[in-house]
Amino acid sequence: MSANNICLPVIQAPMFLLSGPDMVIASCRAGIIGSFPSPNARTVNILDQWLQQITSELSEVPHAAPWALNLVMHRSNPRRHDDLELAIKYRAPIVITALGSPAEAVESVHAYGGKVYADVTTIDFARRAAAVGVDGLALVCCGAGGHTGLLSPFAFVDEVRQFFDGEIILSGAISNGRAIRAAEVLGADYVYMGTRFIPTQESLAQDEYKEMVVEASGADIVTSDSITGVKANWLKGSLEKVGFDVDNMPPPGAINFLEAASDAKRWRDIWAAGQGVGSIDRQQSVAEVVEQLTDEYRSCL
Ligand SMILES: Cc1cc2nc3c(=O)[nH]c(=O)nc-3n(C[C@H](O)[C@H](O)[C@H](O)COP(=O)(O)O)c2cc1C
Repeated sequence: MSANNICLPVIQAPMFLLSGPDMVIASCRAGIIGSFPSPNARTVNILDQWLQQITSELSEVPHAAPWALNLVMHRSNPRRHDDLELAIKYRAPIVITALGSPAEAVESVHAYGGKVYADVTTIDFARRAAAVGVDGLALVCCGAGGHTGLLSPFAFVDEVRQFFDGEIILSGAISNGRAIRAAEVLGADYVYMGTRFIPTQESLAQDEYKEMVVEASGADIVTSDSITGVKANWLKGSLEKVGFDVDNMPPPGAINFLEAASDAKRWRDIWAAGQGVGSIDRQQSVAEVVEQLTDEYRSCL
């Protein structure tokens, strides 16, 4: 697996408030694709500085893997054009779109030779993204950290393969090397791993959050639409800490999804994680995680 300096078919997935330049640079140095969501840079100017840092530091690394920028394409995101302009300015090798049509990004990113992947949770979204010419589809399946899909990966990959012959990136509770291999057997080209990188040294999560992920098992993950209005996976302990009874979560109510989805306070107090937490038993550096995943992956080839 040497195309584009990628040594393991893994994308370190974008995570609101948690992934920034340090995680991206460490991932690309270690040989996997690093990414972050553009809203993590609080302003367009900060985003410009972050991209400057990422591109200049990675230009010094002889065999760095490509990096990716995650953009919220929903009409109500006032920064979507400016952030896309910066992706173009820094020639982001990959742009991953979420919550809106990837159409606008496809033309401009292809113009400089970059790729566009669309993050999708349903077959319908997958069809719509495929129709506008994306290079890859990130299928977010059940068990994923943060906003989750509900489909089984077995069903999702197979149906999407019937109408899409581009790259498939599979996600949802993939937390060890054996699962990466299983995703390839299912027909995926890459996996998208978020939760596995929460307790890394380069993650911006507070220490208590990292420790809760290390201690948790799959039974500690609660799926609820009460927090942001759509189904997402959260750490039970963090919900209880702010006073929720996890067996009686309130109805989602009339919620402005985008506002809630990007409400930093909500995500700072209530911690997202996927069902793959049980594979994580300590805090590590990104490089150590990639080394461990590589050993696990190779052992089942
Ligand atoms: C704490 C956290 C924050 C996330 N924030 C975002 C985000 O801002 N944008 C996005 O597209 N996906 C986001 N995700 C989803 C991930 O990109 C990815 O789909 C998911 O982590 C994969 O499942 P896994 O956590 O089981 O590996 C987030 C996930 C987590 C755990």
